[in-house]
Amino acid sequence: MKQKILELLTEQDGYVSGQDISRDLGVSRTAVWKYIKGLREEGYQIESVTRKGYRMVSRPDIISEEEIRRYLREEVLPGKIRVFPVVDSTNEEAKRAYTEGYPDRSLFVSDQQTAGKGRRGRSWISPRGQDVFFSFLLKPDLPPECASMLTLIAAIAGVKALERQVDEEYLIKWPNDIVLHGKKICGILTEMSADMDSVHYIIPGIGFNLNRREFDPSIQDLASSVFLETGRKINRARFVADYVAEFINRYDIFLKEQNLSPFLKDYHRHLVNVGREVKVILKGQEMVRTALGINDKGELIVRDGQGKKTAILSGEVSVRGLYGYI
Ligand code: BTN
Repeated sequence: MKQKILELLTEQDGYVSGQDISRDLGVSRTAVWKYIKGLREEGYQIESVTRKGYRMVSRPDIISEEEIRRYLREEVLPGKIRVFPVVDSTNEEAKRAYTEGYPDRSLFVSDQQTAGKGRRGRSWISPRGQDVFFSFLLKPDLPPECASMLTLIAAIAGVKALERQVDEEYLIKWPNDIVLHGKKICGILTEMSADMDSVHYIIPGIGFNLNRREFDPSIQDLASSVFLETGRKINRARFVADYVAEFINRYDIFLKEQNLSPFLKDYHRHLVNVGREVKVILKGQEMVRTALGINDKGELIVRDGQGKKTAILSGEVSVRGLYGYI
């Protein structure tokens, strides 16, 4: 009902009478008034004028299923969308949903995370009301080794969604950090459950620092937000919808191809590592190499001083001059 009232108020530029709303939705005018009151409490500014009706003045930057769906074509995401004010981690929420039988391509979004997870056991700071944290539950018919490639697709989708909002040069630090003005603004953690030859689920979890105004001094040189770098405040629900559209479009292509060849050109256009010296930490051993690019499995191709090329599938990679060597 709330969603329908929002739709009616959005379709109309001017006023919609309480009578029209109650007739269209088949509820009493008192009920309409109660829903409007509820929406105001959520932060929607809705003007009401006697004999004219209601008019939407402004929408709050809340993340709700209604707001996300408002910007998303229905067929894009056939699964469920669940939005929480707070969860431990949207990846964990997606895993719980898997055990409850949630459908393929469901999306779990939270305004805040109390135990946001980063890669390599790090945590992902996830304060309320400013940024976005979300995870997809995917149940693809893919061999398990394809899961890491999805992470790279999630990064390209991130760059495209950001470009839709603010025109800037977003870079990807292999495999999947998104960097703006030399600082990290997005991280991706993909988790999987599989047996030898089939996948139970893949959960790409993505966090964007969008509107945050402050970072702990200990990470200020490494991390930032779109707002701090550009002065632009992002509508978060719209951003999530844009991201979903960019990701699902590429995911469908990937399911057919099962490799990254359709995305290599785009990925390389944003890849910060190309031609740079990188410090590769593999199994605890540090080596300096020159990065050449990625192959269609998403591995980073590096060259040593003798010209010998190696493909790195995963491991810690630091890029000289990009947040220093970290
Ligand atoms: C990293 O760069 O270390 C990866 C960070 C991934 C953070 C996102 S936020 C949404 C999802 N839920 C989590 O707990 N982690 C991912």
